[in-house]
Amino acid sequence: MPESAPRRRPLPLIGQVGGGRSRATCRLRCGDACFHPAPNTSDNPYFGDVFATALSRRTALRAGAVTAGAGALGLSALNPAMADPRGPSRPHPSPRPTFKSVQPNTDDKVTIPNGYDQHVVIRWGDPVLPGAPEFDVHHQSPEAQARQFGYNCDYVGFHQLDDDHALLWVNHEYTNEDLMFPGYTDGDSATEEQVRTAMAAHGGSIVELERDGRTGKWVVSKGERAFNRRITADTPIRLTGPAAGHELLRTDEDPGGTLVRGMLNNCAGGMTPWGTFLTAEENFNQYFANGSGSAEARRYGLGTGSSGRRWERFEKRFDLAENPNEANRFGYIVEIDPLDPGSEPRKHTMLGRFKHEGANSRLAEDGRVVVYMGDDERFDYMYKFVSAKKYVEGSRRHNLTLLDSGTLYVARLSGDSPAGEIDGSGALPADGEFDGSGEWIALCTDTESFVDGFGVAEVLVHTRLAADTVGATKMDRPEDFECSPVTGKVYCALTNNSAREPGQTDEPNPRGPNRYGHILEIVEEGSDAAATAFSWSVPLVCGNPEDADTYYAGFDKSKVMPISCPDNLSFDKDGNLWISTDGQPGSLGINDGLHVMPVEGRFRGELKTFATVPVGAEACGPFITEDGRTVFLAPQHPGDDGSFEEPTSTWPDGDMPRPSVVCIWHKGGREVGR
Ligand code: FEO
Ligand code: CA
Ligand code: CA
Ligand code: CA
Repeated sequence: MPESAPRRRPLPLIGQVGGGRSRATCRLRCGDACFHPAPNTSDNPYFGDVFATALSRRTALRAGAVTAGAGALGLSALNPAMADPRGPSRPHPSPRPTFKSVQPNTDDKVTIPNGYDQHVVIRWGDPVLPGAPEFDVHHQSPEAQARQFGYNCDYVGFHQLDDDHALLWVNHEYTNEDLMFPGYTDGDSATEEQVRTAMAAHGGSIVELERDGRTGKWVVSKGERAFNRRITADTPIRLTGPAAGHELLRTDEDPGGTLVRGMLNNCAGGMTPWGTFLTAEENFNQYFANGSGSAEARRYGLGTGSSGRRWERFEKRFDLAENPNEANRFGYIVEIDPLDPGSEPRKHTMLGRFKHEGANSRLAEDGRVVVYMGDDERFDYMYKFVSAKKYVEGSRRHNLTLLDSGTLYVARLSGDSPAGEIDGSGALPADGEFDGSGEWIALCTDTESFVDGFGVAEVLVHTRLAADTVGATKMDRPEDFECSPVTGKVYCALTNNSAREPGQTDEPNPRGPNRYGHILEIVEEGSDAAATAFSWSVPLVCGNPEDADTYYAGFDKSKVMPISCPDNLSFDKDGNLWISTDGQPGSLGINDGLHVMPVEGRFRGELKTFATVPVGAEACGPFITEDGRTVFLAPQHPGDDGSFEEPTSTWPDGDMPRPSVVCIWHKGGREVGR
């Protein structure tokens, strides 16, 4: 057997208790989203014959008008110079990762393949801004934390300044106060100092890095670090786009409805062709108390009681009884310009409001920018934004306006196999594939709504409710999207859906319950990202490959590794899909990890495990540098179900768990995975 061929040990016979995470992470990250009834109670059908669903004549006509317009534009200019910087650009090289898979494990460390090395780049509490004190877990304060690296790292972005310098962007999704503060019990007894420290540990960080010699190792820059920045739950953020200033967004503190304090629960994100970072507010609902119980509040999971962290005790903006519109100001895609440390971050209302997982952009054939976005909730939807204006190379000022106008779409999918052949077991239909077609349904442009009863601002603030009315397809928690730089195909991670019953399955969501998740592959019509029609297939149905309900694109399942709960996606230069996971401990009894799978050629489906993360952690990031020599990985929430006094992980330093970012490179200078 060649060294590259995977050898797989049997999985432990423990922990196969269902998709998902430890109880602590569910409570702190998502506000126990999976323990509440799924908030999508719309009567959108589950089955693939949704094309029979009646669109209102008005909706259909207007959506059709937009489709026709987009088509005309798409034909107008096919200038290769305008091609997506990350779009199809070179012949497909028939790639195959050659490293030897890391074995499934429950070790409290980051495990990487033989021949590779790793470095902890930055940890929770490390200094970021001038004047930041060194981390001292017994003397943390809001002032110190606002200058230090925040908690739970999720999305990792990387903007390379030159061969040896770069800016790292990291989301700080949420806080685990049980691990951050000695003696912490709950939100009711939390001190104001603890609450404000936790608020300062949310948000994101920009950190200057430099290359260590000529290797793939990157370290925190020792120089001036003028670009370093912290965004917290208190940083002023500008609302932009068509809904900015609308009465739904006005509060006593901000009567103009255009300036929000902070961003919350930023999960994944993406980079734009013009070099900014997009960061996605996800489970924002859990920070708010005393919701009204209205249909809008229920659809977004806003509870009627107190919040878990009880921030409303110290900041009345989190009390919806007093500030009913404040929650309308969260749940957006936020754009950060790393090259302008003084710039205001911007919440883009044009990209809709939901539990945004990420935002991955590319250029359409005619130069318009397209952003793919998932709403990470059981039975929620996939979205796409297409800008009105075109990207202009070198015109930064112009490009910074592209996300303010355009069209917001939601996806509707249809299978090509008879519904009776999709029985919920994961068994393939007679045509051998879960596949079919789909369309992007226009919800609104910046000037016109296509949803009956909704104005433009209502669509953009109550996006879930607008999408409920047009027959969008209920998906199994759409997480990250990513576009192949080699083929232009688009991939979406559907992480799991424990609530989907066998009778609710359809071809794009073929298992009920779906404890292990799957990957969706989308081919836009004409390979144009702005198209309103697409075909789709499911190349990977996750789980233990020894189980009949898994599918690895038809590859020999005795030669692949287990994977569960796909979350974040990335591509290497060869067009291999890198998949990080969030939920392997609860579903397979093994640590989460980073896997690599070719999606083209004869090795399509040959999934290998490149790295595993410490006990309790999910594997976030990943990001592969443009030279292909470094992969960044962010093990989030190590030791998530422990306490300060009784940690269940001591990664990375052997004393206590600290969410951190690591970089991994080949000792011989090879591109990662090669
Ligand atoms: Fe924060 Fe959808 O994961
Ligand atoms: Ca089929
Ligand atoms: Ca995620
Ligand atoms: Ca996650």
